[in-house]
Amino acid sequence: SSERHYRIAVIPGDGIGREVVPEGVRLLEAAAERFGFTLDLRHHDFASCDYYLQHGRMLPEDWRDILKPMDAIFFGAVGWPDKVPDHISLWGSLLQFRREFDQYVNLRPVRLMPGVPSPLAGRRPGDIDFLVVRENTEGEYSAVGGTMFPGTEREIVIQETVMSRHGTDRILRFAFDLARSRPKKHLTSATKSNGIAITMPWWDSRVEAVGADYPDVRRDKYHIDILTAHFVLNPDRFDVVVGSNLFGDILSDLGPACTGTIGIAPSANINPEGRFPSLFEPVHGSAPDIAGQGIANPIGQIWTAAMMLEHLGETDAAAAILAAIEAALQTEEGRTRDLKGQATTRQAGEAVLARFLG
Ligand code: NAI
Ligand code: MG
Repeated sequence: SSERHYRIAVIPGDGIGREVVPEGVRLLEAAAERFGFTLDLRHHDFASCDYYLQHGRMLPEDWRDILKPMDAIFFGAVGWPDKVPDHISLWGSLLQFRREFDQYVNLRPVRLMPGVPSPLAGRRPGDIDFLVVRENTEGEYSAVGGTMFPGTEREIVIQETVMSRHGTDRILRFAFDLARSRPKKHLTSATKSNGIAITMPWWDSRVEAVGADYPDVRRDKYHIDILTAHFVLNPDRFDVVVGSNLFGDILSDLGPACTGTIGIAPSANINPEGRFPSLFEPVHGSAPDIAGQGIANPIGQIWTAAMMLEHLGETDAAAAILAAIEAALQTEEGRTRDLKGQATTRQAGEAVLARFLG
């Protein structure tokens, strides 16, 4: 079998996930055809609330055996709070994948696209183009802590931040490698060493230590409070921004928000060593408020397809999809209602496909 053969689990999930995933798949298939690789797409109905109502669980018992041999997971969105509480649907599916497949990198591009009005005044396409790298497994989101004397005057609550050298160095290495691969070769670290005076100075010291192996990458750091201000005031300053789980969580929502609609933003949950498949999904959720109407913006899912192909090494195909998205966004038929257009999901997907096929 050819090296450029990829086994992909396709999991649409709930709501608009089922409407936008087929548009992403159409671009994937077209990319395979045009760039000469092959895809083995395995479609699954689990990780959805309908599956839960039928089976009493979000995933089949052998989900690890089903998904582990895959090269990647192409995911839509999960959640339908009227049918299944979010903590059950999310923890029973997506968070299982992230955790058990050690997807310790959460990666989100922040890029101002043509045809998408930025909430930041005076910014044009090309002005904003950076990546947020979030540590996805430890840090502030630990299970270490507890409550004592609950409900009394003596009530005490503690939750510890857990940072390991293993976990910190590997996310930093990923971020430095990414910065090295880009023209600007610039890494920004989110810190708070003035206030969080134990873990954050240590984080800074790991940035210095790991950074010593990357003399060609310029590095700087900002405290998280002023960093959020710079995202809004000087977004052109950034190239690759790396943060702990909590800081990265904040930055990875703020970044895409600075570039317009949630409907076009992609994200990746990556296990860089490839011991497990990585998972690619749009930033948005299942949008029950517009599901079933065929009006969801498919571009977040299509951009997600491009990110997945880039991860698989199909960089030309990924770039071609991104160029097609940029071209389609500048046309009336490429814009859904969230972009003040009239296009249906299908029409917007078709607009991207048409530009992709040239
Ligand atoms: P959401 O992202 O689904 O929707 C927020 C708002 O953005 C809604 O008004 C929606 O109509 C709009 N929107 C989202 N995607 C859009 C698109 N492609 N085109 C046009 N408009 C779009 O977030 P919400 O409403 O907080 O959550 C809904 C469900 O999705 C919940 O069950 C939640 O847990 C789940 N969710 C799942 C995620 C995932 O699978 N990773 C991420 C976020 C939420
Ligand atoms: Mg978040």
